[in-house]
Amino acid sequence: MSLENPQRYTVTAALIYANGPIHIGHIAGCYLPADIYVRYLRSTGKDVAFISGTDEHGVPITIKAKKEGITPKEVVDKYYGQIKQAFSDFGISFDIYSRTSNQIHHETSQEFFTKLYEKGDFIEEVTEQYYDEVAGQFLADRYIVGTCPVCGNPNAYGDQCERCGTALSPTELIEPHSTLSGSKPVMRSTKNWFLPLDRMQPEIENYVNSHPEWKTNVFGQCQSWLKEGLRPRAMTRDLDWGIKVPLPNAEGKVLYVWFDAPIGYISMTKEWAAEQGRDWELYWRDEHTKLVHFIGKDNIVFHCIIFPAMLMAEGSFILADNVPANEFMNLEGDKISTSRNWAVWLHEYLDELPGKQDVLRYVLAANAPETKDSEFTWKDFQARNNSELVGILGNFINRAVVLTHKMADGHVPLLGELTAYDQQVLDELAQFPDRIGQSIGNYKFREALVSLMDLARLGNKYLAETEPWKAIKTDPQRAHTILNIALQITANLSIVCEPFLPFTAEKLRTQLNITDHFNWTNAGRADLLVEGHALGKAPAGPEDLMFAKIEDDEINKQIQKLLNAKRMNELEVKTVPELRSEITYDDFAKMDIRIGTITEAERVPKSDKLLKLKVDDGVGGRQILSGIAKHFAPEEIIGKQVTFLANLAPRKMMGFESQGMILMAEDRDGKLALIAPGDAVWNGGTVS
Ligand code: MF3
Ligand code: ZN
Repeated sequence: MSLENPQRYTVTAALIYANGPIHIGHIAGCYLPADIYVRYLRSTGKDVAFISGTDEHGVPITIKAKKEGITPKEVVDKYYGQIKQAFSDFGISFDIYSRTSNQIHHETSQEFFTKLYEKGDFIEEVTEQYYDEVAGQFLADRYIVGTCPVCGNPNAYGDQCERCGTALSPTELIEPHSTLSGSKPVMRSTKNWFLPLDRMQPEIENYVNSHPEWKTNVFGQCQSWLKEGLRPRAMTRDLDWGIKVPLPNAEGKVLYVWFDAPIGYISMTKEWAAEQGRDWELYWRDEHTKLVHFIGKDNIVFHCIIFPAMLMAEGSFILADNVPANEFMNLEGDKISTSRNWAVWLHEYLDELPGKQDVLRYVLAANAPETKDSEFTWKDFQARNNSELVGILGNFINRAVVLTHKMADGHVPLLGELTAYDQQVLDELAQFPDRIGQSIGNYKFREALVSLMDLARLGNKYLAETEPWKAIKTDPQRAHTILNIALQITANLSIVCEPFLPFTAEKLRTQLNITDHFNWTNAGRADLLVEGHALGKAPAGPEDLMFAKIEDDEINKQIQKLLNAKRMNELEVKTVPELRSEITYDDFAKMDIRIGTITEAERVPKSDKLLKLKVDDGVGGRQILSGIAKHFAPEEIIGKQVTFLANLAPRKMMGFESQGMILMAEDRDGKLALIAPGDAVWNGGTVS
């Protein structure tokens, strides 16, 4: 059951690892929905703390440090600043954006651990873990690589094979080795502290089952974990990067990153409350506070099972009322991937498409992966901008404002007698704020956005049907009434679009010359703008329009950029084969390599691989069969010079004799390329 009439809200958005910039997948999955939700709550006058920051511990940070050849501290310092700036420029309105490396967080999570320890909530257990004797440390799963027992991938990780997707444990790997030193790890025993999730299962089950209103993807994932049976989980790790385990004989041990990170929500609330002179405990200990975690789907188990279990064990905190996790957003037909650089990076977007925050916010909200994975494409981005933002929302606002400047001297005109149609439009208008608000309150942001656009559609339709530009000539009073109504719709739009499009809302408020005491509590009314109220300056040029058309050029640049990333990435991942064993010059000299020109080429019947070639070798020509039919059409290679091995013993293939071998190289896509001399060489010329 969801908390009814909460007195305040604590809204968190996942503490992302500070090991790289953020991309549109993160935004659509977590941060934008959270921001829409919070902006709506604030507009309704609710007391909200919107908390987020970076997760600065754990193996993902140390791996990144190793890759970049810098320290973990340097990694988190670099990305914390960058991520915070990008969020702020994008209008994500956190009340605090902090980091888990702060002193207050170390203290808060150590206190939390100590409390559980003292209550006897942990089980101490000695287990055998892989240890790297050369590097002198225990190995996190990600630091162990070996052959996958399922598919034979030689580069499977200790926790997962990325080729076949199987979840693994390090001991299942065949021929494991350490990625730190390359050495073969040994088993060594180590003591760690486990949270007995198995014993806590009934309590956790009660909690989850009391929330059948959770999104199906979230509720379902929880059920499948519960069904498998929870197992004790280590809350400490043998690592040197992280928060020290606050016990006397715990040298070299740190808190498990999934233990400390969610506690970060609490320590960051403390930090914020101290700045604001508020009482942080109200936001975490008062049962009239509604706690909501926004996350992506890979974080569900941690927020719905493990963190609540920690909080239950601790005993003095409230539990999440909801965890509206989204699925993933794909990009141009492929999974977003940081390592493959297949992403639209927020900081780059902000740089390359300045002033278009709301366009991206709109497109990501409209396509948010709320119930299933969704997809971002630049063509869709363009289409939604041009036909929806420009064509519907921008168009309506612009018409209402410009007509008022033209026909009423930029002042809100008098509302005269209403027709039945006017009344109907006003009645409809009155229902929008609640409808949109309810969708947002139920975490249905796409639905809310559709309603928002419907309000703009209502406005467009109203103007199209009443035609004030005609009425002004015959019945100015009537025209003024129409304009007044159109302006009331516009003023309402400035309120209800704010959670989604805050930059547009701001611009609109300037054009209407209104302040932000306009909010959800008075939305829906038809008298937001009083008669005689002077609007702001009349829109003078294209820069005053709410939205501008996006041309093909701009979109093609972005598409090209992605394609380049793909190419670079392929070049990088292509591994160069190892050298074959050494040969002498005499070995080489045995080979007679010559240049020739292909004069004839045809397919070999019943073979999909072979082409039968006639090669001019300067001495009457010869026939060579070559397995290149999948790569070249016969007609495209006739006339091309090639390099061939001329003294290879003749051999019959599919009934034809082959007198030599054409030399080929494989390009990065596995496609074959002919090896031709750089300059024209006479047929029969030798290679030496
Ligand atoms: N750092 C994690 C990630 O990027 C998310 C941590 S969320 C928190 O996937 F709850 F632990 F803070
Ligand atoms: Zn595998």
